[in-house]
Amino acid sequence: MTSTHEQAPPFVSRVRVQGFRSLAECDVRLGPLTVLAGFNASGKSNFLDAIMFVRDALAYSPGQAIAKRGGLESVLRRMESPGESDRSDIADSFLIAVELSLRPDGGRATYEVCIGRDPQEEFTHLVLRESCSLHLPGEDVSFSTDLTSERQRNVDGGIPGARLNPEELLLPIVGRLAPYDRLLRALLAMRFYDLETDVLRQLDDTRVRRTQLGERGEHLGQVMGLLAGQHPEFKESLDGYMRWLIPSLLGVDQRLQGDYATIQARFWTGDPVLPFWNAVNADAVHPGDPHVQVFQSEQLSEGTVRGMGVLTALFQPEALTATIPLVTIEEPEIAIHPARVACLFDALHEASHRTQVIVTTQSSDLLDTEGVHPSVLRMVEMVDGVTRIGELSEHTKRNLIKNPSHLAEMHRQGHLRPAAPANGGQGAER
Ligand SMILES: Nc1ncnc2c1ncn2[C@@H]1O[C@H](COP(=O)(O)OP(=O)(O)OP(=O)(O)O)[C@@H](O)[C@H]1O
Ligand SMILES: [Mg+2]
Repeated sequence: MTSTHEQAPPFVSRVRVQGFRSLAECDVRLGPLTVLAGFNASGKSNFLDAIMFVRDALAYSPGQAIAKRGGLESVLRRMESPGESDRSDIADSFLIAVELSLRPDGGRATYEVCIGRDPQEEFTHLVLRESCSLHLPGEDVSFSTDLTSERQRNVDGGIPGARLNPEELLLPIVGRLAPYDRLLRALLAMRFYDLETDVLRQLDDTRVRRTQLGERGEHLGQVMGLLAGQHPEFKESLDGYMRWLIPSLLGVDQRLQGDYATIQARFWTGDPVLPFWNAVNADAVHPGDPHVQVFQSEQLSEGTVRGMGVLTALFQPEALTATIPLVTIEEPEIAIHPARVACLFDALHEASHRTQVIVTTQSSDLLDTEGVHPSVLRMVEMVDGVTRIGELSEHTKRNLIKNPSHLAEMHRQGHLRPAAPANGGQGAER
């Protein structure tokens, strides 16, 4: 394992979004670990979806990324006009811009897309603008494209003389070649997890080799096997977190049934007395021990399976090597007992030394550990139909650094809010 424990700059360091779903205008800086917290329907998932839109548009096409989300009308921000309750407008376009750091040489990049409706309704959407700049050691390149009034895409940089269909993006084309290939590969490798218990339990056909956990939890069996084979120290660390979540659990393993892989778990069924814990910690409890019982994936509790899914998303081999540069997880605490959820935070924090991690949460219990620095929080709130996302105010952060135990309680009571924007917006904390 070559990774260092130094905190490298995060892959996505800043995201600006305009006109996308409830995000009228937001500008969010991200760290190696970011926790998006806020009430239901405040816009947490919309924010992650904006980053995922970039990945989807590059991996498939902007048209497919829009179709997956129910069409342009459901993606474009609907604006209620105050005072005219019978009227609502829909934005004509949306913009998503990301600032990125590339490993291992500290390259930097910005990428921005602006997509809108076609007033002539000839196309389902138009790429109004796309721009990219890439700064690598010893090499600076950039391109930008704009739509002309004749609906031709004017391309500046990238490919000389390129003519583009007004619905398509240029980065997937220029990204076939150096130096843009590194940027495209990294953007395509971002993973957005929204785990489903049934999918995590599925049998996985090993004749199709899979090296990554699917975004709904596919291939857990194969990935668990890879982790045990390639990174046994991280497999042991994953088992350690699982033991925190479920004290009688000894470890989780790949289970092979013919050509199919799934998971199983070893449990201790004897007395949970001190010598047992000593034996676990000394790795002296093994299958075959009369007090060790193995259960198959269908027999495992929902919390066991989901906990494994979350930990595998974080510690899968390609996240450990940062081949996956960003892992986002929707509500990792689901189905975990409140008294145990805080240990998930330690796992998120450990994983964020190797790949960038963003999670959404509703859970005060996840924040109920002294390891949570208030600067990892991005508070999300909906004010008049518009999502605001921001850090806590400096004043609140200072208070919480002095009294870390107050964080979870303030969150539980709904008292944590994004700081007022520098130009003095409304509805902000204190
Ligand atoms: N096109 C749109 N224009 C304006 N607002 C929208 C649009 N699409 C969705 N929304 C708003 O976004 C809300 C959903 O936001 P989102 O799914 O991000 O919430 P969340 O914070 O993830 O909530 P939860 O914690 O319940 O998952 C909707 O209730 C709606 O108010
Ligand atoms: Mg959500």
